[in-house]
Amino acid sequence: MTFARVAGVGSYLPSNRVLNDDLVARGVDTNDEWIVARTGIKARHLAEAGQTSSDLGLIAAQRALEMAGVAAEQLDLIIVATSTPDFIFPSTACLLQGRLGNKGAVAFDVQAVCSGFVYALSIAEKFIKSGTHKRALVIGAEVFSRILDWNDRGTCVLFGDGAGAVVLEAADKPGILATALHADGAHHGILSVPGNVAGGKVTGDPFLRMDGQAVFKFAVRVLAEVAHECCEQAQVAPAEIDWLIPHQANIRIIEATARKMGLPMDKVIVTVDQHGNTSAASVPLALDAAVRDGRIRHGQKVMLEGVGGGFTWGAVLLEF
Ligand code: ACO
Repeated sequence: MTFARVAGVGSYLPSNRVLNDDLVARGVDTNDEWIVARTGIKARHLAEAGQTSSDLGLIAAQRALEMAGVAAEQLDLIIVATSTPDFIFPSTACLLQGRLGNKGAVAFDVQAVCSGFVYALSIAEKFIKSGTHKRALVIGAEVFSRILDWNDRGTCVLFGDGAGAVVLEAADKPGILATALHADGAHHGILSVPGNVAGGKVTGDPFLRMDGQAVFKFAVRVLAEVAHECCEQAQVAPAEIDWLIPHQANIRIIEATARKMGLPMDKVIVTVDQHGNTSAASVPLALDAAVRDGRIRHGQKVMLEGVGGGFTWGAVLLEF
């Protein structure tokens, strides 16, 4: 039987680090105390004008390939999770394939907003387990700063830009122990960018809109449910999880999820304080940070979780 295991991780944050007080200085009607108390966010990184998701994803991908000892031409699958692609088409995955110098691999984007990376990783695992593909590059890359209304203090303080990547390889033992994905389109209205481009003009509203309290309640419920679902599938008790990496949207959502899982916060990887919410990049950014600083070690069980617009949600339980 073929399994899929993580062979390398990487990430990249734009160099422009913006503190809460810097937002105040730019004219956002907010303050550090409010943002920290409600969200836990102290800083986020913002892309330069013209810096795209594929620019950020390229560096994250190169770092993951280097750790895995895999050359770009050896990849047979490239999946990019993003809601802020460089273009309407071609996909950011194809752009990255070209920039990495790979030819012939399957390449496509996944659009599941903040669950995108967990969706993409689960899809890559299914390709590898089926036996058709052997080496996948899975990237979450976002420039959410482009779709924020900087006059809406209820949303613009929450997000940041960045990218994270994983190389997934075929192996004779797991690897990925369980995956669970879900969506419920009835809730599309509580978090969306309800606009598009038609006839050369923006139609609708091109900015992120959110009902914060509805999102909060929904996220806390489904993150706990899907983590338990993955544990049951893999026959792993929550207490056996070494590290929980939930989507990094808000420290209060993260703490509530850990509490519902019966896990202490010292088993939870938290980067939201330094990165803000980077949507599909948040989970691989946190994974890379904890692997590179030595907290996550080989053989440990790690639960990755996403939840986002759609609504979509999902989890991946893996042995690193
Ligand atoms: N700075 C200062 N005051 C603010 C700010 C701000 N940035 N934003 C809102 N306020 C004010 C409001 O105007 C309001 O003032 P009022 O009482 O005088 O009318 C007050 O703060 C309370 O506003 P609410 O919107 O009710 O604040 P709430 O307690 O719901 O907190 C928050 C808002 C932090 C967004 C919360 O709802 C939340 O965490 N929701 C989860 C959403 C989330 O994390 N989304 C991320 C994307 S979704 C995802 O990734 C799954």
